[in-house]
Amino acid sequence: MYTPAEDRYETMPMRYCGRSGLQLPLVSLGLWQNFGDTTALETQREIVFHAFDRGITQIDLANNYGPPPGAAEENFGRMLRADLAALRDELVITTKAGYPMHPGPYGDGSSRKYLLSSLDASLRRMGLDYVDIFYSHRFNPDTPLTETMGALKTAVDSGRALYAGISSYNARRTREALAVAADLGLDLLVHQPSYSMLNRWIEDPDQAGTGESLLDVLGDSGLGAVVFSPLAQGMLTDKYLDGVPAGSRRAKGGPLRAEYLSEENLGRVRALNEIAGRRGQSLAQMAVAWVLRDPRVTTALVGASSVRQLDDTLGALANLEFTDEELAEIDRYAQDGGVNLWAPRSSDR
Ligand SMILES: NC(=O)c1ccc[n+]([C@@H]2O[C@H](COP(=O)([O-])OP(=O)(O)OC[C@H]3O[C@@H](n4cnc5c(N)ncnc54)[C@H](OP(=O)(O)O)[C@@H]3O)[C@@H](O)[C@H]2O)c1
Repeated sequence: MYTPAEDRYETMPMRYCGRSGLQLPLVSLGLWQNFGDTTALETQREIVFHAFDRGITQIDLANNYGPPPGAAEENFGRMLRADLAALRDELVITTKAGYPMHPGPYGDGSSRKYLLSSLDASLRRMGLDYVDIFYSHRFNPDTPLTETMGALKTAVDSGRALYAGISSYNARRTREALAVAADLGLDLLVHQPSYSMLNRWIEDPDQAGTGESLLDVLGDSGLGAVVFSPLAQGMLTDKYLDGVPAGSRRAKGGPLRAEYLSEENLGRVRALNEIAGRRGQSLAQMAVAWVLRDPRVTTALVGASSVRQLDDTLGALANLEFTDEELAEIDRYAQDGGVNLWAPRSSDR
């Protein structure tokens, strides 16, 4: 039986999610990889319980996280029922729909039919009455935004979700979603984009739109930014500097594609690793501190395959400050590494 650490709220700083009253921990845990049926449940439990002990109150899921799709929610549901039920009100549990989940036209996309049936299935798998945040997982050019935002509003109005969010929508699509949501009377809380030192797309002006960056839109409209893959799936650590270690995400043939580990990217990682060393940090720690340097970023949403990794990453909290000189030096190497797997899902361009 799990007993949470009594000092769990003593060391984790919180930030308000945009203009909302919801506070989130500076580091959140995602269950995209390592929480399906190919990872021992005991390992998963150790990581999740340790995260909570360290003040990580937000656990991020999606309908399709596995393998197989749905397994991460089922496994997390097991932990909820067995150990976390009494702590439900201390947790922010999030899920999403928008990527392929099951065969047929109602298992993919952004229709009302798919989003609401998927949310019900997520609730069943986790054994929950509601999730804290329900996201449209990606923009879909074949579904009117009124339908997608309408489905999010129904999710909130019906009590299945406390808040609604969007993920990976670019600046222009985010502006459009915000306008439609406002018309419908839906208060969007949060955006979940990818962001790291090798993937800075949220800082770039959106040329197809008004020229604003996504970060500008979020800051201006008061949406929180839950930034995912701040370690670029593990590339922004020292683990790939001497080859591909056994058991790593790349070794498993997962979404960290072989071409991402190009000599050019590894050269950047090596240089960044040196800068981190001079700051007395591991590269993972500096990578997390770096995404948090912008106050518009609410939380860094990380993954972990072990408690040791999570502890290393959380060491970021010991030094979140950067000098102008450090930031300028980092900028020389923190360049687009072609690792934004999610770019095609941000709009219909
Ligand atoms: N909205 C979306 O479309 C979307 C898409 C992707 C992710 N996400 C969310 O973001 C979460 C995080 O994504 P992510 O797992 O790609 O994030 P990440 O934090 O960039 O990468 C996590 C991986 O890096 C390695 N790692 C973590 N800490 C380490 C450390 N201290 N030292 C060395 N290696 C370390 C581990 O790889 P190994 O497994 O190789 O050990 C771990 O699985 C997901 O779980 C999900 O909740 C959302």
